[in-house]
Amino acid sequence: MAILLLSVLVVSNLLAVTAQERFPQTPLVLKRFSYPTGLPYQADSENLLRGTQFGYNRCNSSTEIQESLCQTSFLNYLDDFCLWAPPKPDSLIADTEGEEVAWCSQPGRGTRRIPPDALKGVQFMRTPDYVQVVGFIDQTAINIAAGDSGGELDPHGADLRGNPLGGLMYSNAWSKSADTYEQVIEWHNFMGGNAFCLKVCDPSRPNAASYCQHRYDRIGCAYNAPNNAKEGVFESCEGENQDFPGVYTQDGRVLTYTQPPEALGPITSVPYQPRVPASSNCKQFSSSALYTNTPGRITPVSLAATSVASTASPASTSKSGGSQSQIDGESNDATYVVSSAITSVFGVLFSALFLA
Ligand SMILES: *[C@@H]1O[C@H](CO)[C@@H](O)[C@H](O)[C@H]1NC(C)=O
Repeated sequence: MAILLLSVLVVSNLLAVTAQERFPQTPLVLKRFSYPTGLPYQADSENLLRGTQFGYNRCNSSTEIQESLCQTSFLNYLDDFCLWAPPKPDSLIADTEGEEVAWCSQPGRGTRRIPPDALKGVQFMRTPDYVQVVGFIDQTAINIAAGDSGGELDPHGADLRGNPLGGLMYSNAWSKSADTYEQVIEWHNFMGGNAFCLKVCDPSRPNAASYCQHRYDRIGCAYNAPNNAKEGVFESCEGENQDFPGVYTQDGRVLTYTQPPEALGPITSVPYQPRVPASSNCKQFSSSALYTNTPGRITPVSLAATSVASTASPASTSKSGGSQSQIDGESNDATYVVSSAITSVFGVLFSALFLA
């Protein structure tokens, strides 16, 4: 009995030590930091199995250089978002997921800048539960090796420290004023295949963790962020919610897909086609109008008002001139086109690359 007890003690001690070395005291998704005053130097200050946080979260004008290691990211609007990408050229996402840094579409964030001409088409989508950007990019311009089919960044990871470790996300998409940023708890960002999708889920909504699911890391944007983004098009739309990633309806039954473990080899087929939700009220812009101005000129406040006012009915899209005026007034060379929306064309697929 004593021996048994002793061995139980030894085993549980061993487990405790292992757990300590791998897992942080507090998982990243449980940490809260107000922006900007509450930002720590590093959200993950521990030295555990995966080492220490590669960069820092307190970013300022002196960290706003192309060697920046800023790991505080944003998704505000079509013209104003950041993507996670490697700190050193010619890297694979899979090799660097723990250390990606923020590359932003605009100056003023204390981060690296996405070269404006690297963006080849971006769709911003606002839905009841999240906002998302999906697009096409010359990924070599943000240090991702040519041909890398990439992978998923999210605030979880097997050790709950996030990928990148300590990476933080903020948004003004649900704020009353454009310069108030709220910490986004659940988000996912797929990078690779010269494409990207970044979804940030409204922290006040009950299904944030489901819409921003992090388990389907091998099946890309088509399954995690079904969209109709088009190469060469820069647009802002309103849309209905996607299904939760991995959840689909077949013959009237709601089913959940289980992604097979990597040990079983490449994923060669997935038993469903994800549903691309209806979208409406798309406004198109020229890329130069979006990425060479300073952020905030297209104010998210007026957009928030617009999106609430015109919930996808054809009547409201056809007489939307009034609600657009603030946007058009702010960005002089923006053109906008109201598209008739409902479409099932796939945009950024990029799961094909995962499946290949
Ligand atoms: C800017 O941020 C960096 C990284 O957090 C920090 O080391 C540096 O002291 C800051 N500089 C200023 C002027 O606040």
